[in-house]
Amino acid sequence: MQIKKILILKGDGIGPEVVEQALKVLDAISQKYNHKFEYIEALIGGVAIDKFGVPLPDETLKLAKTSDAVLLGAVGDWKYDKLDPAIRPEKGLLGIRKGLNLFANLRPVKIFDELISSSPLKENLIRNTDIMIVRELTGGIYFGEPRGTEIKNGEKTAFNTMVYSESEIKRIAKVAFETAMLRNKKVCSVDKANVLDVSRLWREVVIEVAKDYPEVELYHMYVDNAAMQLVVNPKQFDVILTSNLFGDILSDEASVLSGSLGLLPSASLSGDNIGMFEPCHGSAPNFKGLDVVNPIATILSAAMMLKYSFNMEKEAKDIEIAVCEVLKQGYRTEDILKNEGEKLVGTSEMGDLIANEAGKR
Ligand code: IPM
Ligand code: MG
Repeated sequence: MQIKKILILKGDGIGPEVVEQALKVLDAISQKYNHKFEYIEALIGGVAIDKFGVPLPDETLKLAKTSDAVLLGAVGDWKYDKLDPAIRPEKGLLGIRKGLNLFANLRPVKIFDELISSSPLKENLIRNTDIMIVRELTGGIYFGEPRGTEIKNGEKTAFNTMVYSESEIKRIAKVAFETAMLRNKKVCSVDKANVLDVSRLWREVVIEVAKDYPEVELYHMYVDNAAMQLVVNPKQFDVILTSNLFGDILSDEASVLSGSLGLLPSASLSGDNIGMFEPCHGSAPNFKGLDVVNPIATILSAAMMLKYSFNMEKEAKDIEIAVCEVLKQGYRTEDILKNEGEKLVGTSEMGDLIANEAGKR
């Protein structure tokens, strides 16, 4: 029996409905194993702007710091597109990542056998693909200074800075190599070292860190090539190590290999144990409240929380098995419905089915 305090940040758009499903599954697990999960709710993103005028209220960050883990839905809505960029919903997400020092973002791309026909790629290319993307999350061009917009030579000019220090590269590289040691011992470091100074330093530091992991095979790939390789030969990858911006782009691309962006979970970790867990997809405001979106990415994010933050390997496995089982029984949300005989269900029913299955074994 363990007691864990979990901060719940439902956020905007479809965030609340997918988080609700993950909570059903967590409840089933806590009952089965006699754990106590205490949920505390707070605001982030657009809903926080509406109530407090800022996307990340101090109270939210304070609660996060005193929790055992954070479970997040999604942030963002077009209705905030016209706001001052400093208070956009996305700033809340970036702020909490930075505030909790969540520099390591793990995004596992796994192919469910049941969903192979949902993949846009041919079956022989995709079968047995199993990739872990290790994305740097608190540095690079997302946070670099200087940034801004100014008048230069009589016209508006905007700029951002892509910047990484040796220590930032070193700590994320270590996460990638440690991760590879528990998998197939291969790291592909993705950069743009043929053009960018920051990538040349990236490569230099990664090669240095690799010396501590002689068992791990390291290779390097330019990001444009990596984007292409992901669709022509995804099976070659084990761990992909990359920076914040490249990781953002490649993880969306990699996620649909599995059939839908609605399947990809993520864990954001720091050296000091508070982790944040969120689906890789966005807030999809168009689908809000329609009970049509896929909750599996958020449910699998909750499983990652059990595994990475609470060391509950078995409980996490139960959730993964439950997801497979429900897919095997033919239940599909709209995004992954492809074949005759499959049963279309809504967000909430998918949550019930997986919770029920997870509570069983
Ligand atoms: C993600 C998202 C975020 C990011 C946005 C919402 C700020 O796309 O987690 O991949 O760019 O990191
Ligand atoms: Mg993204």
